[in-house]
Amino acid sequence: MRYAPPKGTYDILPPAPGRDAVQNSALWQWLETSFREICRQYGYSEIRTPIFESHDLIHRSVGEGTDIVAKETFDFITKGNDALTLRPEGTAGVMRAFVSNRLYIERPVTKLYYIGPNFRYERPQKGRYRQHHQAGAELLGASGPEADAEVIALACGFYARLGLTDLKVKLNTVGTPESRAEYVKALRTWAEPLLPQMSGENNRRFAQNALRMLDSKEPQDIALLATAPSLSDYLDEASQTHFAAVKGYLTAMGLPYEEDPRLVRGFDYYTHTVFEIQSVVLGDKALGGGGRYNGLIEAVGGPATPGIGFGLGLERVLLALEETGISLPTASGLDAFLCPLGEAARASCVTLLAHLRAEGVVCDMDYTGRRMKAMLEQADQCKARFAVILGDDELAQGVATVRDMITKVQEVAPLESLSRLLM
Ligand code: HAM
Repeated sequence: MRYAPPKGTYDILPPAPGRDAVQNSALWQWLETSFREICRQYGYSEIRTPIFESHDLIHRSVGEGTDIVAKETFDFITKGNDALTLRPEGTAGVMRAFVSNRLYIERPVTKLYYIGPNFRYERPQKGRYRQHHQAGAELLGASGPEADAEVIALACGFYARLGLTDLKVKLNTVGTPESRAEYVKALRTWAEPLLPQMSGENNRRFAQNALRMLDSKEPQDIALLATAPSLSDYLDEASQTHFAAVKGYLTAMGLPYEEDPRLVRGFDYYTHTVFEIQSVVLGDKALGGGGRYNGLIEAVGGPATPGIGFGLGLERVLLALEETGISLPTASGLDAFLCPLGEAARASCVTLLAHLRAEGVVCDMDYTGRRMKAMLEQADQCKARFAVILGDDELAQGVATVRDMITKVQEVAPLESLSRLLM
């Protein structure tokens, strides 16, 4: 029996010619290191939380009316009868950890980042998986618009660091829960007589989460939505002032954005600013998104604490980089590959390898006892700078033949001075 990876998942593998960027582990390491570096620069510390949380926490924080909770969560009951959910996103678990560990006592403003897998039962297609990875950040304890601007700048800074251009930053505000509730009432009144002309999906949204009707991608809905009441007309003054300040800071930082009054995003926890970063080369697919969630920490049992953050889909970053044709970094190779000729040389190579590694040389050896040509091919495959050839003659004299894999020039060197030569 041969098993394939479960539907909507894929393996991340050592780099090899022709391998898709999404499956290349060296590129994942590069993305993760780049994200860690920029987070450190902005003063964020790493948090790691479990990949499953209580069913109740996820369903309540993401929101019962959202697509994610209604259709996409992986829910399960343990042998001990606990109801759990594989996390479909990072924010709910991070808020739970912030409260469980009373992090709010440690500092007035908490800045956290995370990188990890999330699980959504979606119909798989290019750029959409059942297990996807996000790099995310959350800034907790600051309600001012400076925090919103910083978080958006951090997300944009990450893409810039990778060399990814051709992005659109879409920006909107969904105001306070009170002003939004007023708006949703007006939206439903407007939509009800039009339901027969709307898509099935928007009929479902009308019943479950009317705000999300604005997000529809169906042409018949888009045409109708042109006459829908506007959320901005229902915003209270404080929401409007906050949003104006966020936009002012983004402009001052030289970060271009497009206001999109129909951007509402698929989570119930958002308040005020919401944003999405889209990739033009991926047909405006969302590379990442986020927003403010001033009521979430309280909703999961913590003290009233404002928060704002984002999650960036890492698979989509790799797809966008590939599509853009940016030359992606390649994995670095070995300093040396040891090629023993015969049993005695193999035994000596084992200790020589340990000695060279202790000295800091990045090296490996042949374990298969193959012929010289095959060993040199493997040295090339490992991108070794040098092949170190050790046969009976070399052993007897305490030397090795060192072959430069680029120039093909060979020289004989004493074993004691090998590490200096190889590094
Ligand atoms: P989200 O927009 O659902 O936000 O996800 C963030 C990003 O993850 C998306 O823009 C997309 O790039 C990627 N993504 C989501 N689902 C998939 C999938 N099935 N396959 C591939 N990529 C996917 C959140 O998750 C929020 N927690 C963001 C946030 C943090 N808001 C505040 N703090």
